[in-house]
Amino acid sequence: MNHLLDIASLSVTEIESLLEKAFAFKEERNKPLLSYHGHRLATLFYENSTRTRVSFQIAAERLQLPVTDINLTHSSEKKGEIIEDTIRTLAMMGIDLFVLRHHQDKLPHALAEVLPGNIHIINAGDGMHAHPSQALLDLMTIREYKKDLSAAKITIIGNIRHSRVANSLQVLFAKMKVQELVMVAPPIWQPEQIHCGRVTSSLDEGLQDADVVICLRVQKERFLANESFDLPSYRHEYTLTPERFQKAKINAVIMHPGPVNRNVEIEDTLVDSNHSLILRQVENGVFMRMAILDEIVGGIV
Ligand code: CP
Repeated sequence: MNHLLDIASLSVTEIESLLEKAFAFKEERNKPLLSYHGHRLATLFYENSTRTRVSFQIAAERLQLPVTDINLTHSSEKKGEIIEDTIRTLAMMGIDLFVLRHHQDKLPHALAEVLPGNIHIINAGDGMHAHPSQALLDLMTIREYKKDLSAAKITIIGNIRHSRVANSLQVLFAKMKVQELVMVAPPIWQPEQIHCGRVTSSLDEGLQDADVVICLRVQKERFLANESFDLPSYRHEYTLTPERFQKAKINAVIMHPGPVNRNVEIEDTLVDSNHSLILRQVENGVFMRMAILDEIVGGIV
């Protein structure tokens, strides 16, 4: 693996290999390899992040891979430098792995096309397009709970239209042959393009007999100028409450990529209930990102 740009670029074999590695790191069956010597990672986040940025930093540290966090408020891009030149400059100082979050759809793909082959781009979220490491850690978390995805009903609730996580999950669930994927959203948040599953505006229908319920953040920052968000009516129809959650299977689990807006996407009591895997997702994120870095560095010749 040379870059991690999106889920579509990964084969099922590569996905299974990442899962195997991530579980091995979690169970401490994989020790860090000496081959990380000579590599260095930079985190470049042009959008806010807590989980993804810190998780990649900790994953790298656990692999004994040095990390530089680029402070973009003080970088030379403020003086007009383009991102491609920033990356080329940092590469000349010895950085070869770049974890990039940016508001522009497919910027990681464009950079991977033009930058030299010894520079490796890891997409940590590009606009509304993709968030592959999040989808992979979500898959790892689901697998811990339900091994057989061909017998799983998964329900995604919320702002599907603006969600790079939902996009990546759809592609991933199609590849992994999930039995049923239902996406629940009000009409304004239904996706223009579907990669897998079906869409409904009925939360009750979507939740019926679900094994896994994934709630998404409302993502107000991605609304277009002509889009509005009516919080009281969203809460009235779509907030996951204990009463609504009863439609799902008795041992169903709740996930959320975070950050959670409590009592908007999920009612407080459910966020903290023993159905919730939200903190498990965060924990698994470090192991999945170790696996991603290991796979890329291991593939460098
Ligand atoms: N899920 C996710 O991407 O969280 P952060 O924005 O905190 O990185």
